[in-house]
Amino acid sequence: MKKFVALVGTNTVKSTNRELLKYMQKRYADDAEIEVVELKGLPIFKKSEDLFIPQQARDIADKIDASDGVIIGTPEYDHSVPALLSSALAWLSYGIHPLMDKPVMIVGTSYGTLGASRAQAQLRQILDSPELKATVLPSSEFLLGHSLQAFDDNGDLKSATESQKLDGLFDDFLDFVDLTDQLDHSKKLHEQQAATFSWDNGTTGDDK
Ligand SMILES: Cc1cc2nc3c(=O)[nH]c(=O)nc-3n(C[C@H](O)[C@H](O)[C@H](O)COP(=O)(O)O)c2cc1C
Repeated sequence: MKKFVALVGTNTVKSTNRELLKYMQKRYADDAEIEVVELKGLPIFKKSEDLFIPQQARDIADKIDASDGVIIGTPEYDHSVPALLSSALAWLSYGIHPLMDKPVMIVGTSYGTLGASRAQAQLRQILDSPELKATVLPSSEFLLGHSLQAFDDNGDLKSATESQKLDGLFDDFLDFVDLTDQLDHSKKLHEQQAATFSWDNGTTGDDK
C-alpha cells in the first residue's frame, strides 16, 4: 500500500483544509496510508551561518523521504499561501531536498467561491524552484469553495459532486506516483544540480 504525507498548510486550530486532509485519510484508507502532518510550531525561516534546521523540519523531511508522495492542503491569505507554509517549504529546501522528484497533489479550501485557486497556483510555482523541484500532479486543482459549509458532522463532504471529483483526482494521483517513478533522466539531472547548488555562492546559474 502506498504511503503519503498530508501537510496541513496552516496553524489555525479549526481549519477546513485540515478537515479535508482528514477526510481524504479516512475515505482512501483502503488505497493508501495517509499521515496528516502538522506544520504548526515551525519557526519562521531564517538563514544562518551554520545552516541550522529545526528538529521539527528535519522530522517532517524524514517522513517525506519515507513516503511515496505528498498531499498539501493550502488555505489562501491575501491571494497567497500562508506564511507558515511558505516558511516550511523554505526549511525543506535549505540544504535538504525531501521534496525533490516527490509526487505532490495540491488541494485547497476557502470560505469564498474560489477555493484557494491563487494560493494553489502560487504553491505550484514554489514547488518548481531549484531546491524543491517536486513533481506536481498536472491539471488537477481540487478547489473547495464555501468550505465552512462543505462538511457534515462526521467530517464527510456533503456534496457528491465534490467527493466524486476528489475520488477521480486521487485515483489519478495513485497512477501519477507510478508514472513519475519512471522519470529517470530528470531525477538524475535534479540530483546533480542539487549536489552543487548553493544560493550563497551561486554555484549554478542555469535554473535560478
Ligand atoms: C488575513 C486573511 C486573508 C484572507 N485572504 C483570503 C483570500 O485571499 N482568498 C480567500 O479565498 N480567502 C481568504 N481568507 C479567508 C480564509 O482564511 C480562507 O478562505 C482559507 O483558505 C480557509 O482555510 P482554513 O479553513 O483551512 O483556515 C482570508 C482570511 C484572512 C484571515
